[in-house]
Amino acid sequence: MQQKLSNDFLIQCAHEFGTPLYVYHAERIKGQYERLQKAFHECDARFFYACKALTNINILRYIKNIGCDVDCSSINEVLLALKAGFVSENILYTSSNIAFEEIETAAELRVNINIDSLSNLRKFGKKFGSTYPVSVRLRPNIMAGGNLKISTGHKNSKFGIPLEQIEEITAIVRETGVWIRGLHIHSGSDIKDVDVFLKGVQVLFDISAHFSQLEFLDLGGGFKVAYKPGDEETDIELLGKKVTEAVASFEKQTKRKWKLWFEPGKFLVSEAGYFITQVNVIKETPAIVFAGVNTGLNHLIRPMFYGSYHTIENISNPVAPAKKYTVVGNICETDTFATDRELNEIRENDYLLFLNAGAYCFEMASNYNSRYKPAEVLVKNDKAHLIRKRDVLEDLLKNQVEVL
Ligand code: LLP
Repeated sequence: MQQKLSNDFLIQCAHEFGTPLYVYHAERIKGQYERLQKAFHECDARFFYACKALTNINILRYIKNIGCDVDCSSINEVLLALKAGFVSENILYTSSNIAFEEIETAAELRVNINIDSLSNLRKFGKKFGSTYPVSVRLRPNIMAGGNLKISTGHKNSKFGIPLEQIEEITAIVRETGVWIRGLHIHSGSDIKDVDVFLKGVQVLFDISAHFSQLEFLDLGGGFKVAYKPGDEETDIELLGKKVTEAVASFEKQTKRKWKLWFEPGKFLVSEAGYFITQVNVIKETPAIVFAGVNTGLNHLIRPMFYGSYHTIENISNPVAPAKKYTVVGNICETDTFATDRELNEIRENDYLLFLNAGAYCFEMASNYNSRYKPAEVLVKNDKAHLIRKRDVLEDLLKNQVEVL
């Protein structure tokens, strides 16, 4: 579970910057990165932060400064990573179903490219032949992940090239001479089970024999974090040990060294994030006591979109006796954050803190109901820095063209 910033400090942030507010704890990100490095220290492993989880430019710079590389899912994320100071060689571009022109732009920017369809691989081979290395995203036909929306490796998934089409890939290599330098899989997000990753490594080992110019195998991301006390996360240390053993024996068998790449998103930033909200209304109905907060699915959609669990704490009244509340948002459709949750007695204006708010939280926020996106704060060396201002009315109108 999250090693928390103190309630007093978070309340101070709420006073200083207002709510709803996202707060990120830099050193917590570093701690997670160091855990990964340690777990895989006997492998030749590289970690590319899957920045779709959280792309504030300051987070990207911090990630770069601690020595981690970056994985991007759109050309704009690539541009942000370059702006943050990453060099091309440390940027990986893993896309899905994008126009070939975007891949051409990525090639102009000299970043590492991962291709996820036969169609784009063929176009790439025709255009670049053996002059530009790529990796290929495979669909490993593994069912894994916290829920169907974030399961990406199964046999009905849109992601990657199905393993069954390996002959088509090798035909493209033969015909175009395309230089395949890596193989990639990403089976899903919130995968707790170490064995799923081991199965994935095995898939890559088995397929690798089809390609003569491989340098790395990319296992993607998907490590699960803990969302509540007692919840299990992926045992990274065990995973490191098991993957190291598997790679060592594969290296013996193939009489060569292998590089491993990973793309962790949640693991690096989920627990570093907090979302501070304030209670507008307590509504006692015959069956349910609602705590209505000053935010909604526009700012944090994970509970409504995936049924995700976020621990909620009443940091304004932390030792009061617990009561049951259904915590809801202020958006004009049902946006329930928690149902019948035991929380320390809530009064109007109390601050409710949501944990695990670093990954896919601000990043999936919108201006629905024409509400402003929240501000973001980065805490580094115990100091709180505003890294994104709260929207103002002009932001809502910024790209609108007034013709009437
Ligand atoms: N690599 C690729 C190719 C991915 O598609 C993803 C996530 C990652 C790496 C990082 O996965 P992670 O380590 O963060 O699990 N919005 C959802 C999660 C969507 C993940 C999409 N792809 C959520 O809030 O649970």
